[in-house]
Amino acid sequence: MKIFLDTGHLEEIRQAVDLGVVDGVTTNPTLAAKEGRPFRELILEMCQLLKEGVVNAEVVSTETEGMVREARELASWHPNIVVKVPMTRDGIRAAHILKEEGIRSNVTLVFSPAQALLAAKAGAYFVSPFLGRLDDVAENGLGVLREILEIYRAQNFSTQVLAASLRHPMHVVEAAQMGSHVATMPFKVFEQLFSHPLTDRGLETFLKDWEKARPVLGEILEPTKSRNTTRQR
Ligand code: E4P
Repeated sequence: MKIFLDTGHLEEIRQAVDLGVVDGVTTNPTLAAKEGRPFRELILEMCQLLKEGVVNAEVVSTETEGMVREARELASWHPNIVVKVPMTRDGIRAAHILKEEGIRSNVTLVFSPAQALLAAKAGAYFVSPFLGRLDDVAENGLGVLREILEIYRAQNFSTQVLAASLRHPMHVVEAAQMGSHVATMPFKVFEQLFSHPLTDRGLETFLKDWEKARPVLGEILEPTKSRNTTRQR
């Protein structure tokens, strides 16, 4: 499963990319608006940070023609840009046209298996079911993701399922378990994936034990000159 960061914040992307496990970024108009800078500049910096990874940038027109024109423009900025279009009649029509033109689309704001079926039929590259927002209205986000994945497998669709609006590590773990192609998450959730108190406690003990036995164990690395000096003192 690919891991995407759901953010508009370059510093978060820089830190996550540095760890070597991030495959792409998703943005939306709300996330972009928070950054207070020109959209094109922001998206291009993201592309630079991601290197091979994809950057998902969303159109803001609401009718097909405008969406397609914006999509062509966005896609011309960088080869790794995937264009997000909303799950509306116009959005689906736009996804179909973009497919014909060889522009990758991500049908976003998907909340049901029926909508995901249409996104695949339109030839979307990604489909983005919003799990957390479903949970917020007392529906079952993970349940909807499971149904979408079942349909896609049964129909052999090539559209990749991008689990979005993830709010906690178990959303990510369960999406992976179900075979979601991608999970996109806020930086906070990405950081939570690293944490386990037993890891911290275990490491603390290992280091304490090593320190006690250091005179016998010696060093793993050849001591540097300066260390030698310190030791000899
Ligand atoms: C995905 O592409 C969306 O930007 C995102 O996952 C929305 O998440 P939210 O419900 O936390 O705003």
